[in-house]
Amino acid sequence: MRMRYIIGNWKMNGLAADLEKIIQISKLSNRTLQPDLTVVVCPPATLLPGAGEIHDVSIGGQDCSPYEKGAYTGEISVSMLKELGVTYCIIGHSERRAAHGEKSSIVARKADVLISAGLFPIICVGEPAESRNRDDAIGFVTRMARESLPQSDGPFLLAYEPVWAIGSGRAASVGEISAMHDALRNLAGPQTPLLYGGSVKPENAGALAEIRNVDGFLVGGASLDPETFIKIAAQLNEAERNCERASV
Ligand code: 13P
Repeated sequence: MRMRYIIGNWKMNGLAADLEKIIQISKLSNRTLQPDLTVVVCPPATLLPGAGEIHDVSIGGQDCSPYEKGAYTGEISVSMLKELGVTYCIIGHSERRAAHGEKSSIVARKADVLISAGLFPIICVGEPAESRNRDDAIGFVTRMARESLPQSDGPFLLAYEPVWAIGSGRAASVGEISAMHDALRNLAGPQTPLLYGGSVKPENAGALAEIRNVDGFLVGGASLDPETFIKIAAQLNEAERNCERASV
């Protein structure tokens, strides 16, 4: 049995009333999901204080500072996240790489800072459409991943999110994800959970969950509705049961 992960990235969505959705996710997951699935919700920073008090679902940040404290206006340090009960943190999301110039070397530093505080970094990598069209996706992403990995040995998760698949309604194909995740498995080793993200929804989650080196999903839009999110999660459970049956 291996651990699988369903992680919701709410991005810049959600006001205080939406904490109710995290409570709903926690109840639904308790009622319907197997314990070998870790459920994580990453709400915007303003909701972390309330979210950290909800049981049975892990909470993640969407970014953190590579520095411990000091004159970094607008930034949030890892100890600030930790104090709120946060255990995971997304870093290097393509939206931050594009809009905030976040380089892989900074992502690697953030990963080290998170690991040294005992939090799990969720390191995001992915290629733009041009690189996919040039047939250079695997080279591009493995390079980005190598430069974004922590120096320290601690555990981290690696999420493959092709930029062109995010929010487009068109997920990468089973073949594209298989080839990429096999390459990332070689790079990150057998213990690193590998997630796929980019237009995951209940309609495609079953097929994507069956891919050999897919250990879970990083879900954007579809994570904003608790029932939809849990439908996706249930398919990861189902894929793991199929995997176990096949190996008997
Ligand atoms: P969508 O699921 O909305 O395509 O977003 C994916 C994503 O960016 C998760 O981090």
